[in-house]
Amino acid sequence: MSAWEKLRELHGERGKRSMTGLFDRDPNRFETYSARCGDLLMDYSKTRLDAEIFDSLITLAKSRNLEDRRDAMFSGALINETERRAVLHTALRNLSGDPVFVEGQDVMPGVLATLYQLKDFATGLRSGEIKTASGQVFTDVVNIGIGGSDLGPVMANVALSPYADGPRCHFISNIDGADITETLQGLNPATTLVIVASNTFTTTETMTNASTAKDWLLGSVSAADIGQHLVALSTAEDKTAAFGIAPDRVFGFEDWVGGRYSVWGPIGLSLMLAIGPDHFTEFLRGAEEMDTHFRNAPLAQNLPVILGLVGVWHANICGYNTRAVLPYDQRLARLPAYLQQLDMESNGKGVAMDGTGLKYRSGPIVWGEPGTNGQHAFYQLIHQGTRIVPCEFMVARRGHEPDLAHQHNILIANCLAQSEALMRGRDKKRACKLMRDQGFEGAELDRQAAHRVFPGNRPSVTMMYDQLTPRTLGKIIALYEHRVFVEGVIWGINSFDQWGVELGKRLANRLLPLVNGEQTDDPHDGSTLGLLASLSE
Ligand code: F6P
Repeated sequence: MSAWEKLRELHGERGKRSMTGLFDRDPNRFETYSARCGDLLMDYSKTRLDAEIFDSLITLAKSRNLEDRRDAMFSGALINETERRAVLHTALRNLSGDPVFVEGQDVMPGVLATLYQLKDFATGLRSGEIKTASGQVFTDVVNIGIGGSDLGPVMANVALSPYADGPRCHFISNIDGADITETLQGLNPATTLVIVASNTFTTTETMTNASTAKDWLLGSVSAADIGQHLVALSTAEDKTAAFGIAPDRVFGFEDWVGGRYSVWGPIGLSLMLAIGPDHFTEFLRGAEEMDTHFRNAPLAQNLPVILGLVGVWHANICGYNTRAVLPYDQRLARLPAYLQQLDMESNGKGVAMDGTGLKYRSGPIVWGEPGTNGQHAFYQLIHQGTRIVPCEFMVARRGHEPDLAHQHNILIANCLAQSEALMRGRDKKRACKLMRDQGFEGAELDRQAAHRVFPGNRPSVTMMYDQLTPRTLGKIIALYEHRVFVEGVIWGINSFDQWGVELGKRLANRLLPLVNGEQTDDPHDGSTLGLLASLSE
């Protein structure tokens, strides 16, 4: 019997068992079904996993050669087979001194040289040594990028705001002119640095916004001096030169760093400018700690492996189509959006590495919002809706506001209450008692009670960490990167390409002339033609 069949069989036998019953039968359930990496605790006991299911999941991982695939990634093998590339974002946070080879060449000297260049630049700009064209200190930094060239920097800048003591950082991503207009409003071009962040340096949104920003700079800075206000973060040095950015203002990286995995290198420059090189190094160290854990911890105690297996259990065996990321940490407000790209662009695939169609489900729909806000919005569905949404809660043991520790305690209580409520639910008997105590009786009591029943038995994972420091953030992000990797290996897909974003881009280029009022021979469907016609109403 294959590991998949075994898991389906176990689910068939045990799928309806109550989680609270599992706790009643095993007083050590929390210890058994939780794992740690330093201060980061991951509790997955509020799922329906038991020893046999867990063992079968580990067997499944082994049967998919997870350990070999993992080692292949870290060793620089060309595991991104559809683009014939290595996958080595982990090299960007390799501070161990160990070499990393791609096709026989150690990439670490180049990685570290770029890191030192970034640090020199950040130190110079933060200290005021690197000045504006008019000899002033840079007060603001605008990062122009989209997708992985935006979401990581934004997410991390919001997350680590208590450490920000450099220039103020702003972000422009959308082609919608509203984004650049709103962001540049109130900024002084004479004291603003514009970072053009684009791996390829061809992305329409970024290059169009970059041109608009250049024109904005030219309102205060002469054409001869504009280079002092521009930086490029890109792999495409020919294109950065054509845009007019001097080579010493270009921080490059290699094609083995995918966009959604790139915050650890040059794409993280805005973060380094905001929090300083030392805190940025801590961010890298956190990720490196998770890398080391992922490479060395036994599978059964390995956080990314377990999180990935819980994801596979829920997606493929229990049939849940989605999962919610619910940080009880306001500064992780952009984490769900970041994880949407990381997870859905990586594992939203329908074809296996060998080109055959998948016969099972791959990546789920990932979404979320910080708690407690989400509680007052969509948790209704999570608690009582007809769909089951596995939840991933996150909370710090202490916040960054010692004077508001009482508020932090309320935050923690809410986080723990949600996972408990999802698991325990409220049965009909208790709902009836509640309504009886309020004076209801007979048929009306039954009717009112039915609305107050919570099915319960809804799974969640909770992560708890000391405080949202640069190191902890690095650890959490690397945990999720490797979780996506684990799931991708089990599904047999390539988690490192993104062909699915291409068709829409191509069609947008073909539609633009028609939107501009030109005629083309391109065939379009009736709906699209109708909408185009409506533009001139
Ligand atoms: O269109 C998708 C994508 O290629 C993402 O994978 C990437 O993060 C984003 O666009 C931005 O790409 P670039 O950094 O090349 O501008």
